[in-house]
Amino acid sequence: MTIKAIGISGSLRKASTNSGLLRCAKANLPAGMELEIVDISAIPFYNGDIAAGDRPAVLLELLAKIAAADALVLACPEYNYSLAPALKNVIDWASREADNKVLNGKPVAILGAAGGMGSSRSQYHLRQVCVFVNLHPLAKP
Ligand SMILES: Cc1cc2nc3c(=O)[nH]c(=O)nc-3n(C[C@H](O)[C@H](O)[C@H](O)COP(=O)(O)O)c2cc1C
Repeated sequence: MTIKAIGISGSLRKASTNSGLLRCAKANLPAGMELEIVDISAIPFYNGDIAAGDRPAVLLELLAKIAAADALVLACPEYNYSLAPALKNVIDWASREADNKVLNGKPVAILGAAGGMGSSRSQYHLRQVCVFVNLHPLAKP
């Protein structure tokens, strides 16, 4: 059996070190695991009006990929002591599906690259968000 994981970077810039972390993880996967790194740069900000109407294809595709995955790998820079909004936005969208079916019970690995504290504060906040939406972080803080 192959474990299929989705990798999401909280940084949208091309030269992102966090996206680089995901590529590094992908290049060093254990046997029996796949990691697909997805691009979230076109995902709209959560908006209840969009949620109640015709949601864009790029969002539906992302939600379907996350739903089908066995696990998530989230790489997040630290922005003003917290997690990057682009990543939080994806979690917000995914958490609004009926019965939390996109996220519920999935294992999540959290990593990050940032300034002097090495993204520890953003990772801690991200971990709290993950626990709240019933993702299961793999490591204790
Ligand atoms: C708006 C903003 C706020 C930031 N705040 C912090 C911070 O509070 N702590 C920190 O260590 N780095 C902070 N940084 C630096 C980023 O975390 C750092 O540049 C990170 O490597 C960016 O990730 P990336 O290379 O994947 O784009 C901030 C950067 C930006 C753009």
